[in-house]
This record gives sequence, structure tokens and C-alpha cells, in this order.
Amino acid sequence: MHKLVSVALLVFVSWSTPAVSSRSGVPCYQSIFSFGDSFADTGNNPVVFEWYSIFDPVTRPPYGTSFFGRHTGRNGDGRLIIDFIAENLGLPYVPPNLAHNGSFRRGANFAVGAATAVDAGFFHERGIPSATSKFPLNTSLGVQLEWFESLKPSLYRTTRECKKFFGRSLFFVGEFGVNDYHMSFQQRTVQEVRSLVPDVVASISKAIEVRYVLHQRLITMHGARSLVVPGVIPSGCSPPILTRFADASPPSAYDSRTGCLKAYIRLHNSLLQAELAKLQAKHWNARIIYADFFGPIMDMV
Ligand SMILES: *[C@@H]1O[C@H](CO)[C@@H](O)[C@H](O)[C@H]1NC(C)=O
Ligand SMILES: *[C@@H]1O[C@H](CO)[C@@H](O)[C@H](O)[C@H]1NC(C)=O
Repeated sequence: MHKLVSVALLVFVSWSTPAVSSRSGVPCYQSIFSFGDSFADTGNNPVVFEWYSIFDPVTRPPYGTSFFGRHTGRNGDGRLIIDFIAENLGLPYVPPNLAHNGSFRRGANFAVGAATAVDAGFFHERGIPSATSKFPLNTSLGVQLEWFESLKPSLYRTTRECKKFFGRSLFFVGEFGVNDYHMSFQQRTVQEVRSLVPDVVASISKAIEVRYVLHQRLITMHGARSLVVPGVIPSGCSPPILTRFADASPPSAYDSRTGCLKAYIRLHNSLLQAELAKLQAKHWNARIIYADFFGPIMDMV
């Protein structure tokens, strides 16, 4: 499932980058905490796949070969966006919480390849992607947040110390969503996908609700002050989806300018941005940054 997320798409990202260093030259951010799927996972997925006895292709070449010289658990042969951000902030690569034996004082990465925003039970109850599939695994946004909360006591002793520390951390919440949709689209015809739309839309609002809760928790409860929230990728442009629906889609299903299948992306990302604007209005002392993949194309799909 995580293979659907092509890392080649990662090169085009645009967002308003927060200030990298303060006037004194001291880095603004002392650590990075990250939640998400394969776009951000720096090494958790092989651990989780092993729990479920699922073969994980990222443990074989060519994964890792072009930069690290060995597989690292990343869904790519080189670095991910989060790696470049860490480098630019003068921080170490964000260590995967399930695979790292050491300190998390400079950050922790809870992202897992193939993770969904919505809890796994939502899909399993509906037989999505199939009644026998182990996917989605128990690694949703809510589960990652639980991992974060159980790591917290090892970072600092008091809530006050933790809040101060998280106030100087950069939080990444996402990408989330693409696996929710791709999971729903497995083994379905276009007609069936159409009939799934109410569920998909429900899962969009559920995802946003989960994000909402998360932000409430991260900002209010844990003291996060800088959050970057990516939208979903334009998956209607991705080869697996284009191939999957190639025979069954009428010409009108495609955007004439991009050749991409028109999908749910625009709806998801606009609901998300509206939600983030509401959150920003509520939390004047936090900075909530929407990040989008493929900015200009995103308007079209
Ligand atoms: C973790 O690191 C400690 C020392 O830093 C070592 O004693 C221990 O064996 C390591 N555990 C694993 C699972 O690698
Ligand atoms: C999923 O993981 C969380 C956190 O580790 C755990 O509390 C929960 O019981 C797990 N759920 C299932 C269905 O395994």
C-alpha cells in the first residue's frame, strides 16, 4: 500500500518557511516532532511491518542507495523533505521512535509508511481494502499521538519543562490522507468508488476532526507553538491511480490541462485549510502553517 506513494513527487513542495534562526543566530527550533506516513517516515515502517509479518520492500535495494548507502526504512533512495528541513535547521535527521535506541531530546519521528489519518478499525469494519487484508495497520494519527504522549515523560520531568521544550520545537502533522483514500480505492470499480464517496467524504471530515483534536492536544495540552500541516498529494496524477482506473474512466474524468484524474484532493485540502484557519484564529500564540505538494497543480485536481 505504501508503495503507492511515490517519493519522486516530493521534490515539489512549497510553503512559507518559518524563520530559521533568530536575530542572535541561535536556531529557533531545538527539535522536530513528526507525525505522518511514508512521506515523513525515517525508519519506523520496517519495525511495524515486522510486527505484522509483512514483507517490507524498503529493506532492499534500491532503497537508501543514492544517499545513505544502506536502507534506512525511508520510502525512497535518498532523503525526504523532513531530512532537508532538519539539515537546514541544523538539526540531526529526525530519529524514528520505534527504531532509534538513544535520546529524543532533539526530536522524534512517529510517522509510519502506509499510515492512515483515520483509525484502522474504521476500515476493517467496512472490509476495506478487503476482508483479509492486514492493512491499514494500527498506526493512525491517533496511535502516533499516543506514542508521542508515552515518550514525553522520558524527555523532561515536569509538564512545565516539557511545554517550554515543545514551544521551541517544530511539529509536522502529515502528510495524512492519501493512504485513507488509496486504501478505499483498492479492488473497486469506478462505480463502486462512486458509491464509496459518502464514506470517503465522511473519512475526510473525520480526518480533519482527528487533526482538530490533535491540534487541541498538541497546542493546548503540550505547548506546541509551530506546526506545519501538509495537504494531501494530487494522487489523481500518480501512476498507480492512473493505471488502476485507466480502462474504466471516461475522458471527462480527466483534467484536460494535466491529464490527472479529478479526485477528492481539492475537497480534502480546502476543508483542511478552512479547519486550519479556524484553529489559527483560536490559537493566536501558535503558528500553524499549511504546506502543499504541487501548489499550482493542486488547484486543478
Ligand atoms: C541500546 O543502547 C544501549 C547503550 O547505549 C545498549 O546497551 C543496548 O544494548 C542497546 N539496545 C538495543 C536494542 O540496541
Ligand atoms: C493500537 O495501538 C495503540 C497504541 O499502541 C494501542 O493502545 C491499541 O490497543 C492498539 N489497537 C489495536 C486494535 O491493536
